[in-house]
Amino acid sequence: MDSRRQQTIGFIGAGTVATVLAVGLAGCGRRVAAVSSRSMSSARGLAERLDSAAVACAGPQGVADACDLVFITTPDDAIEETAARVRWSARHSVVHCSGALSSDVLASVRKSGGGVASFHPFQTFAPGRVDTLDGATIALEGDRAVLMTLRGLASDLGCPTVTLRPEQKLLYHISGVLACNYVVALANAAGELWRGLGIPEEKAAKALGTLLKRTAGNVDRDGAAASLTGPIARGDAGTVVRHLDELARRAPALLAAYRGVGLLTVPLAQSKGDIDSETAQELRRLLAGDTIEAEIGDGARVPREVPV
Ligand SMILES: NC(=O)c1ccc[n+]([C@@H]2O[C@H](COP(=O)([O-])OP(=O)(O)OC[C@H]3O[C@@H](n4cnc5c(N)ncnc54)[C@H](OP(=O)(O)O)[C@@H]3O)[C@@H](O)[C@H]2O)c1
Repeated sequence: MDSRRQQTIGFIGAGTVATVLAVGLAGCGRRVAAVSSRSMSSARGLAERLDSAAVACAGPQGVADACDLVFITTPDDAIEETAARVRWSARHSVVHCSGALSSDVLASVRKSGGGVASFHPFQTFAPGRVDTLDGATIALEGDRAVLMTLRGLASDLGCPTVTLRPEQKLLYHISGVLACNYVVALANAAGELWRGLGIPEEKAAKALGTLLKRTAGNVDRDGAAASLTGPIARGDAGTVVRHLDELARRAPALLAAYRGVGLLTVPLAQSKGDIDSETAQELRRLLAGDTIEAEIGDGARVPREVPV
């Protein structure tokens, strides 16, 4: 039998991501052998979901004693301290799933001779639902030998991988915050405008959901630049001015976000040739609001403060 399939896998922290990974790995024939969590009920809940003979352990040491490859799937802030509480040995590979942290937080494992890595699915998993990875890209970082094992796991799960250096993780994670969390926050802000119009909640949700799905599908298929539509892509400076005026009067809390994201949109529209540099400059001036670029002497331009 393939020795990788004999490897025992354990989870410390039986929450959302642990459930997705443990169920996924057990489903492709991997041996998930032990689970622990802060509460015994979470550990038992996950162990019972797995058809394999996974045991629920009273603490993390039980998982380490039973398994070679251990995922620490606690919240980010508990990873380092959780790892430090366990007696590891050279047979262990210990992995966390944080997008922002590198495997350096597992230094206590390295000191005991074990290997370390991070394994971050670039995917969103809502608490309380058993989502699947659905082909999510996995960002790997850490020790070479552990990464080889993790590439095998990702391949079994049907997920492509990218490999990062420790110092790249924060920017990588920020990209996920922008593409996922901030899109949700912007969708919520858009929903609040619909609520302000007095439109029933379910109609608003249907309208926004339909738009979001088409937008995400376009970006997935054609990339961001080709998917850009709207007043900035059309160079409609008059519409942008009317939007800014209306927001200032009726939803001033959204002005900063409208301006900030608008300023990111202008170079995208320019890069695909939708607007010329003069229009781009005009839009930037309108969106910046409190600064414009002023011409000095020899034609060079510098930002200067102007009243909003
Ligand atoms: N959710 C996502 O979309 C997502 C995506 C990619 C990566 N991640 C990463 O995956 C990791 C886990 O996130 P999650 O969303 O699965 O979190 P979660 O649903 O809140 O689950 C965390 C689990 O850890 C347990 N726990 C908390 N403190 C603990 C401790 N000191 N010792 C042992 N267990 C402890 C909790 O225990 P009890 O249930 O027993 O109280 C809970 O079951 C994080 O590093 C996160 O950054 C999350």
